[in-house]
Amino acid sequence: MSMNLVTLLYLVASVCFIQALKGLSHPTTSIRGNIFGMTGMAIAVLTTIALIHGQARSLNVDFGTGLAWVLAAVVVGGGLGAFMANKVEMTKMPELVAFMHSMIGLAAVFIGVAAVAEPWAFGITAAPVAALIGAQTPDGAVILDGFVRYAIPAGNRLELFLGAAIGAITFSGSVIAFGKLSGKYKFRLFQGAPVQFSGQHMLNLVLGLLTVALGLVFVFTESWPAFFAMLALAFVMGVLIIIPIGGADMPVVVSMLNSYSGWAAAGIGFSLNNAMLIVAGSLVGSSGAILSYIMCKAMNRSFFNVILGGFGGDATAATGGAKEQRPVKTGSADDAAFVLGNAETVVIVPGYGLAVARAQHAVKELAAKLTEKGITVKYAIHPVAGRMPGHMNVLLAEAEVPYDQVFEMEDINGEFGQADVAIILGANDVVNPAAHTKGSPIYGMPILEAYKAKTVIVNKRSMAAGYAGLDNELFYMDKTMMVFGDAKKVVEDMGKAIE
Ligand code: TAP
Repeated sequence: MSMNLVTLLYLVASVCFIQALKGLSHPTTSIRGNIFGMTGMAIAVLTTIALIHGQARSLNVDFGTGLAWVLAAVVVGGGLGAFMANKVEMTKMPELVAFMHSMIGLAAVFIGVAAVAEPWAFGITAAPVAALIGAQTPDGAVILDGFVRYAIPAGNRLELFLGAAIGAITFSGSVIAFGKLSGKYKFRLFQGAPVQFSGQHMLNLVLGLLTVALGLVFVFTESWPAFFAMLALAFVMGVLIIIPIGGADMPVVVSMLNSYSGWAAAGIGFSLNNAMLIVAGSLVGSSGAILSYIMCKAMNRSFFNVILGGFGGDATAATGGAKEQRPVKTGSADDAAFVLGNAETVVIVPGYGLAVARAQHAVKELAAKLTEKGITVKYAIHPVAGRMPGHMNVLLAEAEVPYDQVFEMEDINGEFGQADVAIILGANDVVNPAAHTKGSPIYGMPILEAYKAKTVIVNKRSMAAGYAGLDNELFYMDKTMMVFGDAKKVVEDMGKAIE
């Protein structure tokens, strides 16, 4: 295959990836986005195989064995991926993503190590051997650290150092993020609660500087021991960076690691002189960084505030926060159904509790019954409702809620004032008016203005706080009715009562 054709096909794959990102930004276009992504990936993989075939032929090396390895990896990896994606529950999606990032990080490390060991096999042009100190073999390699070695140009060494170091940090950091998100392992570092100790930030700084120093030793001297010591430190750094961050903050961290994995791939792409890897890596790197920024903004937190850790702690600790003694108005599912049945406009606010209770199908049925009675039903989505970006959109899409009933925060906030009822299902922080009060930890966080509705119905299991660990004034308002219980049971009961 000619290089021009390879470049053209890589360009087509890149356009597919951009279209995939565009499509994935909205539920209605997400299937198309996924198809674009799969098509782009298929083109990229097939083109790369054809490219390697050509290179192997010109170098007169065996291609069949390599291809067999690649195909075996595609079958095993692809099969495992399809199995996991099919099996995963919506609430476990962030863990799956963390796991996948760890694999990308590890892949970058493996490629880095392999390219350092056998640069010629990766198409890295050998540098003038005279630049290196060591005995020269007849085919142009040198003997360094007791190994037969091919010289790697300094520029490539820098890219390999960066790609492998970021890959190692991504791998071990993602493993810790996975453990924290799954919450089912006893190992202390996998617990949701932040692991903090004095001098932690200083230790991270020193290790970071040491990693860079060792990386530079590798860049300037091509020393293998320096490269592997740098990798070992990067693995440790990945762990140390993530452990002080609370389990509930992990989605921001996962998005940040997503960004890292992209940059690692781009770094390796430069070393291998592979345009596809550079473009795809940069797309992942920049989109992950933008997503992390959007998430932090929607939570009114700075990126450093998340990274320095401690906030929110573990989700269970936060939800089990201090109980407020003030009286609240309570009602049953039947009472709530009566109020809903007499409304003209109802806005449903889903939150993390709805996902925990897996009540999305029950909500859809309740909404359908209300719509049948001629009541207008709309869903209000806060950008960080739940525990991962787009959590509520995915949940409602799974229940096949019509997209035209689903509204983003900026589109629906103006409508709460005219709504007869706002029904809040397992949401807390995203409707907390404390966001308007100076001095509150969530001051400035944009919220869904459910408190403006004529009547507010709140379903949760207790008076416990949400993720931010704060009390919610909305629960004590005269127009608010608290309906305690698991969201699925309560919503199903409301549906029955409406019938
Ligand atoms: P939260 O503020 O965490 O509130 C969820 C509420 O659901 C809790 O108060 C809990 O109260 C209730 N709940 C739990 N299980 C329930 C069940 N089975 N049935 C009924 N209710 C249940 O959630 P939110 O309003 O969706 O806000 C999300 C929070 O997570 C924000 O603070 C956001 O910044 C943070 N966060 C979000 C993201 C992303 S990207 N989405 C990432 C990191 C952090 P009870 O225990 O009393 O039932």
